[in-house]
Amino acid sequence: MDLITWEDKLSVNIQSMDQEHKQLIGLINELHNAMRQGQGKLVLSSTLENLIRYTQTHFTNEEKLMQEMGYPNLKEHKKEHAALTKQVIDLQNRHEQGELVLTIEIMQFLKNWLTHHILNTDKKYGEFV
Ligand SMILES: [Fe+2]
Repeated sequence: MDLITWEDKLSVNIQSMDQEHKQLIGLINELHNAMRQGQGKLVLSSTLENLIRYTQTHFTNEEKLMQEMGYPNLKEHKKEHAALTKQVIDLQNRHEQGELVLTIEIMQFLKNWLTHHILNTDKKYGEFV
């Protein structure tokens, strides 16, 4: 069972960004399923790594797009991306060091981490277009 299901309300009305957001949802669901199946640390760690890598790619693409469209809140949005990136890297580090076990609470955190950003911040550049 998936943790996050794509819904139309998540759309930012830009197809390429919706596509990338779906990809991120897919990666969080993958991590969720790996956790539920009781996969070992190595599998969880590499899945988390994929999520981090794709998050960075996506944020770069999104920032480039906002730059191109002359989006006025780019600076604030970039700050939020930096904070979100840090949060997920911190999770990874704590997981690596054995200080953090992936639980449903952590997965819920990641779900909110992504969906709140899409709904509250990304949607604004979608409206700007
Ligand atoms: Fe964003």
